[in-house]
Amino acid sequence: MNKIRMLIADDIDETRSVIKKILSLEDNQFEVVGEAADGEEVLSLIPMVNPDVVLMDINMPVLNGLEATEKITNDYPNVIVIIMSVQAENEYLKKAMFYGAKEYIIKPFDYDSLVETIKSTYEKYRERQVKFINNEPLRDGKIITFFSSKGGVGKSVLALNSSIIFSKQNNMKILLIDMDLQFGDISIMVNKYNQKTILDLIDEGQIDSFENIKPYLYKYSENLDMIFAPSKPEAAEYISKESIEKLLMQVKKQYDVIVVDTGINFNDNTLYVLDHSEKIIFLSTMEIISLKNTKLGLRVMQSLGYEKDKVKLVINKFNTSYGIGKKDVEEVFKDNIFAMIHDEEKTVALSINKGEPFCEASKYNKSKIGKAVEVMCKDLLGE
Ligand SMILES: Nc1ncnc2c1ncn2[C@@H]1O[C@H](COP(=O)(O)OP(=O)(O)OP(=O)(O)O)[C@@H](O)[C@H]1O
Ligand SMILES: [Mg+2]
Repeated sequence: MNKIRMLIADDIDETRSVIKKILSLEDNQFEVVGEAADGEEVLSLIPMVNPDVVLMDINMPVLNGLEATEKITNDYPNVIVIIMSVQAENEYLKKAMFYGAKEYIIKPFDYDSLVETIKSTYEKYRERQVKFINNEPLRDGKIITFFSSKGGVGKSVLALNSSIIFSKQNNMKILLIDMDLQFGDISIMVNKYNQKTILDLIDEGQIDSFENIKPYLYKYSENLDMIFAPSKPEAAEYISKESIEKLLMQVKKQYDVIVVDTGINFNDNTLYVLDHSEKIIFLSTMEIISLKNTKLGLRVMQSLGYEKDKVKLVINKFNTSYGIGKKDVEEVFKDNIFAMIHDEEKTVALSINKGEPFCEASKYNKSKIGKAVEVMCKDLLGE
């Protein structure tokens, strides 16, 4: 068996010496390839010494173990981090695992538990590493969220069709997540029933690796995957912000764009997603109530500290035959309207009822709404 290549990170010299000694007593099982006294040293050593495992103290100067762990997870996903900490640092331990540490060990530890922890963690993750190496390069997904302060304005229709447009761009991998956890209907819009949902994923799956998330994805096309919403409204309460956080952290590495469809309930989950979105498509229709709620909603976005550029106002079901004209809307929102999408009831209703999104090639060639969505998506990508 190859020796396990170890990098030991602790700011106390003596701790490093003791660990080295313990590891050397195990015949030919470990090779200490590097020692570091702070997080930054760890990061600079990794490319040079190519460790299998980093044994990392949490409290270190310059860059602490938590931040270093997060960087390693992102930049060197094949390196296994095991955190060392004292009992009182429970909260930090949780954080460390969240940032991608694979295991932890509480100080002071004895000889056997140290050796055992390293060996078992290494064995467990080595197999996954091999898969990872054969995989494509990691991506850096941007979240684009469809949101509104009134229901029924077209979030789901536009989130779905935008995802399709994005997925047709060169070599872009897209994930659409239906985060309307109570009344999500993306699955119906693509004519798929009885599929696994986000609730199954959170209930049964381990959201700590993409391999474990994969079985819960619906592959709509080569470059577009989907995660559907639960089929029962009451399921929403079982899905915590922490699960959403973990899920997004994993999928961001696998996709270029993560499109999120939301419901209208402004809860912790929605807020978390909005906070972490690159862009928010804030949808309104031209109906007076929708316009009023949108104005209020945009103010909430402002009070949340979102930059103007992050929130894109899009007027859907654009139609001037109902007493409110283009000028009126422009006056209400000044020059802040990002796009206007036509009211095309027949196309949209047909496409929903047939489970065939209108941005699919054949239909989309004929529809104005398809073109408008395409322009909006390209403008978004352009930014
Ligand atoms: N551009 C459009 N032209 C005509 N009808 C549209 C358009 N966009 C959406 N619709 C219709 O509006 C209705 C609501 O659309 P959708 O379900 O996408 O809204 P939503 O904002 O996701 O609603 P909810 O808040 O309930 O999730 C649907 O019946 C759809 O057919
Ligand atoms: Mg919806």
